[in-house]
Amino acid sequence: MTRTVYVNGEYLPETEAKVSIFDRGFLMADAVYEVTSVLGGKLIDFEGHAVRLARSLNELDMPQPLSKDELLDIHRELVLLNDITDGMIYLQISRGAPNDRDFVFPDPETTKPTVVLFTQNKPGLAQSPVAKKGLKVISIEDVRWGRRDIKTVQLLYPSMGKMMAKKAGCDDAWMVEDGFVTEGTSNNAYIIKGNKIITRALSNDILHGITRAAVLRFAREAQMDVEERNFTIAEAQDADEAFITSASTFVMPVVEIDGAAVGTGAVGPMATRLREIYLDESMKTAI
Ligand code: PDD
Repeated sequence: MTRTVYVNGEYLPETEAKVSIFDRGFLMADAVYEVTSVLGGKLIDFEGHAVRLARSLNELDMPQPLSKDELLDIHRELVLLNDITDGMIYLQISRGAPNDRDFVFPDPETTKPTVVLFTQNKPGLAQSPVAKKGLKVISIEDVRWGRRDIKTVQLLYPSMGKMMAKKAGCDDAWMVEDGFVTEGTSNNAYIIKGNKIITRALSNDILHGITRAAVLRFAREAQMDVEERNFTIAEAQDADEAFITSASTFVMPVVEIDGAAVGTGAVGPMATRLREIYLDESMKTAI
């Protein structure tokens, strides 16, 4: 089945969808994005993603080309047209395509944003066997720019981080700045000590994960302690458990950091429980 994608108001087969070579997303990474997961044909945390998208656009002085309701309609239409039960919807908005390359932002009156959405079909996304096995991560230096709270498409360093992890026989990388873990290449990072979940506080240093917000809320409701503070790789290696969160992995346990087993080296009970709670609760509010 040919995937149907959305480009600037049109639903098209992926083979017919086109964006200009002058698009600033292509030339300058001048674009923001969101990834929303779909479970049972419904959108998980759509509201959170829509709010963060509006914030990213605002921080970059980009106009908001579509209302939240219009975005919701497009997401739902793509789920239907592509018959998605489980998977993801990728949305990207760039500053558009002026008719040449120029560092200066184009006039938003004449250059309209480019809006692209497509689906990724992932049957059984929530039943990933990796959740039972856990991830192995390496640590790498965080050399990204200083506005990681804006969800831009500047993903070269995160891609390089995944490749460094792959070369080391691992699944992902946790990035470290001034001795403290910032986040994973495409996820937020956590450790657990006793009944306490520790994760870096929100700032411009990390993406304000939509899954993070939900998981911390559910953890507090389940009487787990949450401490938002910096932690080092050494503290993580000495923790009882570790995990990551993102829209595409939900809550995913981490069992090894730089070759050292975390806790018993197997997936622990707290991360497993948080994953179950997150999936149950977010399915209840999926739209
Ligand atoms: N990544 N930190 C980074 C650097 C991310 O790229 C992501 C998401 C997160 C988690 O955010 P959320 O819970 O809102 O998905 C944290 C997406 C999934 C991606 O790039 O595919």
